[in-house]
Amino acid sequence: MRVIKTANYEEMSTHVANLIAAEILLNPRAKLGLATGSTPIGAYQTLIEYNQKHLINFSQVSTYNLDEYRGLEPTNDQSYRYFMNHQLFDHINIDKANTHVPDGSNPDAQAACKAYDELLEQAGYVDLQLLGIGRNGHIGFNEPAESFSKGTLCVDLTPSTIEANSRLFASKDEVPKQAYTMGTQAIMYAKTVVICASGADKADAVASMIAGPITPECPASILQLHPNTIVVADKEALANC
Ligand code: GLP
Repeated sequence: MRVIKTANYEEMSTHVANLIAAEILLNPRAKLGLATGSTPIGAYQTLIEYNQKHLINFSQVSTYNLDEYRGLEPTNDQSYRYFMNHQLFDHINIDKANTHVPDGSNPDAQAACKAYDELLEQAGYVDLQLLGIGRNGHIGFNEPAESFSKGTLCVDLTPSTIEANSRLFASKDEVPKQAYTMGTQAIMYAKTVVICASGADKADAVASMIAGPITPECPASILQLHPNTIVVADKEALANC
């Protein structure tokens, strides 16, 4: 793992945006794995600026998001599809047909997960996977478990994740209890993984990811086995390393 320590959230966001921009400059047809959550928002804003200044071109780029809440329509303003449209896709010259998010509106979990796995396999998996990290070490919605996940799966969100994500909903009761998430295998197939973290509340998860045992109890720890993982984190998030 390569670790880039930044002074603050803004610097972390610029570094992450630059790594993604470099990927697109080197490969205009780049396949990007994208993440939601509050951490990547600054990087997405910087990418929008770069695109509007014609420094990078998304016209041939395709994207594959990590996860989606089960039971939310894409038009629901709490869905990750809605988040991605508003935080990034609506503001750049990407062809929306080339942007993919698991289908949370499909109640048939098996079919929704199979369809996403087929899509990823047909694409040959992503060139660069952007990740955030949950306070319990989750990546995507791969929660701590007894074994690492493989393909796309339907997960029961842990009480701590529901609690953490409830800040974005009117109340905790409104947070969906399940989600479809890309499995660990597809994340590990990415040629490059960029995982970003900011703030003291991520310090324990980041330390476990970088220096703890490789265990499904901390799903992000498997990235220690990935040949090209870059951790971009601010000094608060790296405080326990
Ligand atoms: C959610 C997402 C993750 C994200 C995590 C952390 O659970 N499924 O992909 O990394 O939250 O979010 P935040 O960046 O808001 O702390």
